Amino acid sequence: MATALFLIMLSYILHPHLEVLALATSSDHDFSYMKSVQNATDLPLEESYDYIIVGGGTAGCPLAATLSEKYSVLVLERGSAPVSYPNVLSANGLLANLLQEDDGKTPAQRFTSEDGVPNARGRILGGSSMINVGFFSRADDQFYNESGIDWDMDLVEKSYQWVEDTIVFRSNLSAFQSIFRKALLQAGVGPDNGFSLKHLVGTKTSGSTFDNQGRRHGAVELLNRAVLKNLRVAVEAYVERIIFSSSNNASRLSASGVIYTDSKGKTHRALIREKGEVILSAGAIGSPQLLLLSGIGPVHHLSSLHIPIVHSNPDVGNFMADNPRNNINIVAPYALDPSVVQVVGITSEFNIIEAISYPLPFSFPQPFGLFPKSTSPLQLTVATIVEKFTGPQSTGSLRLLSSAKVKVSPAVRFNYFSETVDLARCVKGMRKVGDLLETVSLEELKFEDLEGAEGFKFLGPSLPKNQSDDASMGTFCRSTVTTFWHYHGGCLVGKVVDGDYRVKGTNSLRVVDGSTFNASPGTNPQATLMMIGRYIGLKILQQRRAAK
Ligand SMILES: Cc1cc2nc3c(=O)[nH]c(=O)nc-3n(C[C@H](O)[C@H](O)[C@H](O)COP(=O)(O)OP(=O)(O)OC[C@H]3O[C@@H](n4cnc5c(N)ncnc54)[C@H](O)[C@@H]3O)c2cc1C
Ligand SMILES: *[C@@H]1O[C@H](CO)[C@@H](O)[C@H](O)[C@H]1NC(C)=O
Ligand SMILES: *[C@@H]1O[C@H](CO)[C@@H](O)[C@H](O)[C@H]1NC(C)=O
Ligand SMILES: *[C@@H]1O[C@H](CO)[C@@H](O)[C@H](O)[C@H]1NC(C)=O
Ligand SMILES: *[C@@H]1O[C@H](CO)[C@@H](O)[C@H](O)[C@H]1NC(C)=O
Ligand SMILES: *[C@@H]1O[C@H](CO)[C@@H](O)[C@H](O)[C@H]1NC(C)=O
Repeated sequence: MATALFLIMLSYILHPHLEVLALATSSDHDFSYMKSVQNATDLPLEESYDYIIVGGGTAGCPLAATLSEKYSVLVLERGSAPVSYPNVLSANGLLANLLQEDDGKTPAQRFTSEDGVPNARGRILGGSSMINVGFFSRADDQFYNESGIDWDMDLVEKSYQWVEDTIVFRSNLSAFQSIFRKALLQAGVGPDNGFSLKHLVGTKTSGSTFDNQGRRHGAVELLNRAVLKNLRVAVEAYVERIIFSSSNNASRLSASGVIYTDSKGKTHRALIREKGEVILSAGAIGSPQLLLLSGIGPVHHLSSLHIPIVHSNPDVGNFMADNPRNNINIVAPYALDPSVVQVVGITSEFNIIEAISYPLPFSFPQPFGLFPKSTSPLQLTVATIVEKFTGPQSTGSLRLLSSAKVKVSPAVRFNYFSETVDLARCVKGMRKVGDLLETVSLEELKFEDLEGAEGFKFLGPSLPKNQSDDASMGTFCRSTVTTFWHYHGGCLVGKVVDGDYRVKGTNSLRVVDGSTFNASPGTNPQATLMMIGRYIGLKILQQRRAAK
């Protein structure tokens, strides 16, 4: 025992980045949570719970599972259960799922921001973690420092581990991901950090919610860690608004429940018991939308829609941000194995570079923005190298288009590159992608044995010839911008919620999801969102224990 401990400590000294990893082992899908799932049509018209969680998504599922350890919990999710849409359960179904026509119920809800960039959000139990690319990497240190939360770092660590040993896998690197990994190192994105879930400058392989067999284990499987008899999950339950009542403190209103409709259009009320709470985990579009529909937001905006004001707060729906994604698509000269993101390059200049490979059995042009517009009839394999950067600094806003209907998506604008620092970061990042194209490792993907980028066949735009020219690089960034789907904001910590994620000016109401971020954490946000769900759940249990 002592020797083992000594060896572990020694390995830490020799390899400071080596982690004690406890990842998931069983890779079968675990549907135990279905015992708690019911169609909203089968729920009573009025019921009470200790906690009501709006949105069974990436943060909502771990939060609900944790609170159910001691209290009764109702999760209201507008989407269906994953079994209704098996494409969400496998890597093979990922693209089909994203490209499926949006019929108002399908798991990938499409929206186009006022910037003109097509985007998507999850509408299924498990949320966007069921339609995403599965890459799992923890937050950067700057996030903890600047998120406005006084983190208990031991609890943060425990919360990550709880998530990781349930649904995170270390899969074998695909052939293309190892070519890409070598290219990053050859292009100077060092050091080589091996396999790590931590945010480290350099090149690393990280975890995935896809296992080696390509099965997806999203946030929904965190519900398996609930005390299922205390948990009820209603699917196809669309929350319309929060109900408020005057509390014993006359200066502020208290959330006392929510109104939701089922798929037959019937209205239900769910109420909270004494000391209970309503917690919004409806995501960066859904949570600010619900606060506004419920009368919390800018007075002008709410008055213009005749929504009675519960609490005036000019910042609800503000600071909406989306990290711009720019990519280069290389047509492979041979059939590459499809691969989800397994490797990331993180530069000290805040750039993040990832890649995927996939066959192109789809007829173009595509409605969806995952790929560039093109009209190739051929069956091809494509390697896409994508770049984003930390932040961004540019922000926009979200506004309601209708006062009555939650099903009417709000208008969102992100104002990509409105801050010059963002454009400069994109230019740096795309130069690094240019360096990648010069590496020996990527030569394998050339059609012809020519110098530099000449030998590649690109699908869609290639990088400007003169990459030292800021103006043409800037034009490239603006003209090829699309989304990494890491949009966030609308209910920022310090502006809309306080350091415990409680909605300012109200009682018994919190927001726990990506709408609270002032920057997207780490390379990709889902790890942090799942951690926060677990973390806030544990904090609430602690606080209630202490109050007894
Ligand atoms: C295509 C795509 C690829 C991505 N790839 C990655 C990746 O590889 N790695 C990574 O870390 N991140 C990735 N992301 C980003 C990441 O998945 C999201 O940032 C994250 O899942 C958001 O979590 P959330 O809890 O804030 O919201 P969500 O997970 O979206 O949860 C919100 C939930 O609330 C529900 N809801 C909303 N409104 C209502 C309402 N009125 N009533 C009832 N329910 C409601 C929604 O249906 C949804 O289930 C990707 C995202 C997308 C879309
Ligand atoms: C829920 O019930 C409605 C009405 O019976 C039905 O149309 C719908 O398909 C059901 N949904 C699920 C997920 O079972
Ligand atoms: C975060 O804060 C700590 C303590 O103040 C500091 O040592 C560290 O350098 C900061 N890290 C970043 C990335 O800002
Ligand atoms: C993963 O790699 C290991 C070591 O090379 C190999 O033994 C194993 O079979 C691989 N698993 C899969 C599913 O490819
Ligand atoms: C009412 O709430 C406000 C804001 O939190 C607080 O300052 C005040 O002390 C409270 N009053 C009572 C009587 O609890
Ligand atoms: C590339 O752009 C830089 C900066 O604008 C310029 O100085 C240089 O002459 C250009 N090189 C070529 C070959 O055009």
